[in-house]
Amino acid sequence: MDHLPSDALVFFGATGDLAYKKIFPSLQAMIKRGNLDMPVIGVAKAGWNLDQMKARAKDSLEKHGGLDTTAFAKLIKLLRYVDGDYNDPATFAAIKKELGAAQRPAHYLAIPPVLFGKVVEQLGASGCAKNARVIVEKPFGTDLASAQDLNRILFSQFPESSIFRIDHYLGKRAVNNMLFFRFVNSFLEPFWNRNAIESFQITMAEDFGIQGRGAFYDATGTIRDVIQNHLFQVIANFAMEPPKRRDSESIRNEKVSVLKAITPLEANSVVRGQFRGFTSEDGVAPGSKTETFAALRLDINTPRWQGVPFFVRAGKNLPVTCTEILVRFRRAQNVYSDLATAPNHLRFRISPNVQFALGMLVMVDDDKMTGMVKELEGTPVPISNEKDAYERVLTDAIAGDATLFARQDYVEEAWRIVDPYLKSDSPVYGYEPKSWGPVEADKLMEAAGGWHKPQLD
Ligand code: BG6
Repeated sequence: MDHLPSDALVFFGATGDLAYKKIFPSLQAMIKRGNLDMPVIGVAKAGWNLDQMKARAKDSLEKHGGLDTTAFAKLIKLLRYVDGDYNDPATFAAIKKELGAAQRPAHYLAIPPVLFGKVVEQLGASGCAKNARVIVEKPFGTDLASAQDLNRILFSQFPESSIFRIDHYLGKRAVNNMLFFRFVNSFLEPFWNRNAIESFQITMAEDFGIQGRGAFYDATGTIRDVIQNHLFQVIANFAMEPPKRRDSESIRNEKVSVLKAITPLEANSVVRGQFRGFTSEDGVAPGSKTETFAALRLDINTPRWQGVPFFVRAGKNLPVTCTEILVRFRRAQNVYSDLATAPNHLRFRISPNVQFALGMLVMVDDDKMTGMVKELEGTPVPISNEKDAYERVLTDAIAGDATLFARQDYVEEAWRIVDPYLKSDSPVYGYEPKSWGPVEADKLMEAAGGWHKPQLD
């Protein structure tokens, strides 16, 4: 059953924000591409009827990505709606009825994790979990213990092979492209190791604040929001060994091996920051110590990466919105070394646009033998009808391909790395909005040549 496509999609939280901003646009896009032809059952407790659900879907598409009349007409035909309490067996009896002849539904829990227990139990009791998949959203827990609890809840009704934990970063073409780039280019392997590479740095900068998500963000912070999940996935893609095969488990095994080789964060390898004004945002507790910025250093204790620091920096209210990875090479060791004013580098930009570039020194003045950094670009050609990350992960979950989802052991390893630090009492330094975070973060990187500041063209 594992690889048979699902034949119905049930999504809980149908009247919520995620459905409005991401799920309806993805469903329409999947229909356009011919990847969705099954009942789509929205579930929520809002006192709504099917017409209100349809109106919400229309509004969502008009605001997010645009309404395609033909695809929308098909979506409306597929759409069903069940209104009810998640504690009430009648809600699940109604879902079962709407599932009709479907044998292998996919249940997408676009709801807060505190509700997972109830919903999963009721899916089991009503028979809706039989041969089904379950798709869950991040955040997957808030620490190791809560992630283990969530896993226990899911495992009570679903085997690991039927659980799809979304990390939408894995649905981005640029992130997938990293594995492609690494493993199809033969020139890379000889120097993709500690002998040639001095450091990695990953910057995920966002020039906006917390966008009205004060209560969520205050309870979460940057490390839990984007580092423990999205940016660890990026690191795993760069640091993993070649998988033995290309199936989902071979790839996910190698990613887990990377995390297993990372020691837990220590206080002297992390700097947390908070933009000034954060505590005046709605939903944020006065005196909150939650970070809106974090810079940290990770060490991966494998033969390939021993001694190569992986620096990570992410934050809200920074000068630009850009996610970029910079790989710095060791400097040449010969009689010309003094002329090498900058290290060679590889630069990968994930957003707002995709860019791959190899930075090298070229001589600009032959009298003084001075050079400047020039980049050789191998940027992929943009695709006009590119899949959005959410469309990609939903399509894969329905098809039963788990490659782009976080496995239980991966999620738990990721929490193991950040958990002790997050539970310790660590300082949070203030920074001005639109700056690159607190100066303490620069000190963390000083010996490694300083942070690279992504520049938008
Ligand atoms: C989400 C975080 O998971 O990822 C947000 O909760 C963040 O805080 C977002 O802004 C970034 O993702 P993307 O795809 O918009 O770069």
